[in-house]
Amino acid sequence: MSINSDRRIEMEETIWNPGYKDADDGGSGRSAASSSRSDTEERRDSRAVKLDQYAQIKPYAGMPKEVLLLHSSKARYRVPREILFWLIVCCTLALVAVTITIIVLSPPCMGWWQITPVYQVYPRSFKDSDGDGVGDLKGIKEKLDHFLNLNIKAVWISPFYRSPMKDFGYDVEDFRDIDPLFGNMQDFEDLLAEMHNKGLKLIMDFIPNHTSDRHRWFNLSRTRDPHYKDYYVWTDCNPANPKPNNWVSIFGNSSWTYDKVRKQCYLHQFLSEQPDLNLRNPDVVQEIIDLTHFWLEKGVDGFRMDAVKHMLEAAHLRDEPQVDPDMPPELVTTEWDLYHDYTTSQVGLHDMLRKFRAEMDTYSREPGRYRFLVTESYDYQEVEKTMMYYGTPLVKESDFPFNFYLLDLPQNASGWWAKQLVDFWMSNMPKGKWPNWVVGNHDRPRIGSSAGQIYVRAINMMLLTLPGTPTTYYGEEIGMENINITQSQVQDPAGKYNVSLSRDPERSPMQWSSEMNAGFNTKSNLTWLPVHPDYQSVNVELQMNDEGSVLSQYSFLNGLRQSELPFLRGWFCYVLADNNVFSYLRELDGHKEAYLIVINFGKGSTTTDLSAIQELPEQLQVLMSTNRANDNKVFQKSQIVTEPGEGLVIRYSTYTRFHPNHPAECYVSEKACYLETVGILYKC
Ligand code: GLC
Ligand code: MG
Repeated sequence: MSINSDRRIEMEETIWNPGYKDADDGGSGRSAASSSRSDTEERRDSRAVKLDQYAQIKPYAGMPKEVLLLHSSKARYRVPREILFWLIVCCTLALVAVTITIIVLSPPCMGWWQITPVYQVYPRSFKDSDGDGVGDLKGIKEKLDHFLNLNIKAVWISPFYRSPMKDFGYDVEDFRDIDPLFGNMQDFEDLLAEMHNKGLKLIMDFIPNHTSDRHRWFNLSRTRDPHYKDYYVWTDCNPANPKPNNWVSIFGNSSWTYDKVRKQCYLHQFLSEQPDLNLRNPDVVQEIIDLTHFWLEKGVDGFRMDAVKHMLEAAHLRDEPQVDPDMPPELVTTEWDLYHDYTTSQVGLHDMLRKFRAEMDTYSREPGRYRFLVTESYDYQEVEKTMMYYGTPLVKESDFPFNFYLLDLPQNASGWWAKQLVDFWMSNMPKGKWPNWVVGNHDRPRIGSSAGQIYVRAINMMLLTLPGTPTTYYGEEIGMENINITQSQVQDPAGKYNVSLSRDPERSPMQWSSEMNAGFNTKSNLTWLPVHPDYQSVNVELQMNDEGSVLSQYSFLNGLRQSELPFLRGWFCYVLADNNVFSYLRELDGHKEAYLIVINFGKGSTTTDLSAIQELPEQLQVLMSTNRANDNKVFQKSQIVTEPGEGLVIRYSTYTRFHPNHPAECYVSEKACYLETVGILYKC
């Protein structure tokens, strides 16, 4: 075909349009039906001719629809098009299937509260910024880098609400205000903003059981304001002997105090200045919920709920049974003299906590803004009561209740005892739940003092290598010890009558440096409690620059636990426990590196023989020892030598797993396997 004829056809086809009125139509339109029909036929014929001609031309840009259709129906265009179409359909389906499989097979992401240890700051004692001898919020803000240096991302701060400080903040006068001793609301907001800037989470202490007797509600209640009269637990009593029943306070003596204004007794399970709220009153429950909203809206990342088992009391107010039925009733004065059948863990408690939890969860919906809840309840041998705070598989309660059992470690330092305490939690914890470990807090003597300084590093090693969230009370990362307190120095009301019950020894100022007041207060020579005399050798600054220090070892182990999957996700298996040594391992299916921990909690040097453990290689190399001289040392597995207080982290490589052969010795919260070739985790 010549170029000319090409052009002509091109012209014709661009001009030709089925809706166009021809010139010989005279522009008059189609007046008669017959002429219109013959026109159509004519057009059809000429169109057929044209199409024939078109079919001779190669497709080109701008071709009209008819030409396009003509070509596109040819096999050589249609077939690839259909192949492409089905390919896209198949790929899309495959992608959807892969996505679903990945979602189904992926283990859930870990929460921030599972990855980082929780560090407890006692604000009076952490850092004093204004020189009045008492720590404050600005002080905490000055020290945030300390947490980052230790790779700690969650900080629980004991109460800093407005308070008359009878129980150092656990007696709250106004839950919506900051005590001037600690700063003001602006200081709090600055602290929170700075913490969030640095990727740190702030956990508030929250006290639902009681308020201060200076709280506005209490004043309105004792004057019988119609709305507030039932905000606390009131009952008639004899002013001369104000004991409507035999209930006792945790701090000793009757838990009832006569109020002259209302002329009735009110209940206080702690100090008389800490009246118990009446949480059977729905208005009070709503007040608590509103308060949690107040702080959640400010952006706090969670709560530590104080003394939760005391929240409800039996309405009948009957006497509690005596532990020793023969004890004269007037001698019943301490917590230990009664079975607390009517003052703790009452029916309805968990429903209430679950309600608080559900309210909190409404603030957890944005990505990265999960709000965490931990409950405080000492249930001693009745561990099943503690476990209830985990909630059920269907209804969430706390993320975990504090596990206080390791606080008993100093009672009997041995490998066997350490295992007993660990197993007490592990064997009672509901399946799939997340463990946690506490080795100190503001209510208990420092473990470094009660267990002995030589065990400090070993205890931190255990804390950071067990499965679950470790809790560190300020100063434990440098091995701080109790201070000695004389009767005249007592600050804690719990120690006013009996110095041995004082909690002051574990509340001494944080030891930052060798400077004045251990760097706690650099402005004046005031500290609300004496600084421990060992501060010149035990302090953060010194230990930061010493690779073998308690602090450096803490930091190393915490880094390891957060970077190595077997510690965060893996199995935990007991290997051995005897008079001296507690040994366990951490392993993950599909992950070549596994870890054996050997800790000597005993009194003597010992040689541990693990030759019976077939899953372990013959030679074991120490990754880290609490005694630096033994780092990298290689032991035969039949002869692992440790000194008292020495702990070893041994890393070994094998795909042989221990847990399938010893299911009764092993725990895992959520099974996960590692696919080493692609470096991903999946549910297995
Ligand atoms: C909790 C606190 C403790 C306080 C008590 C009363 O047990 O940890 O310090 O005294 O509650 O609020
Ligand atoms: Mg109560």
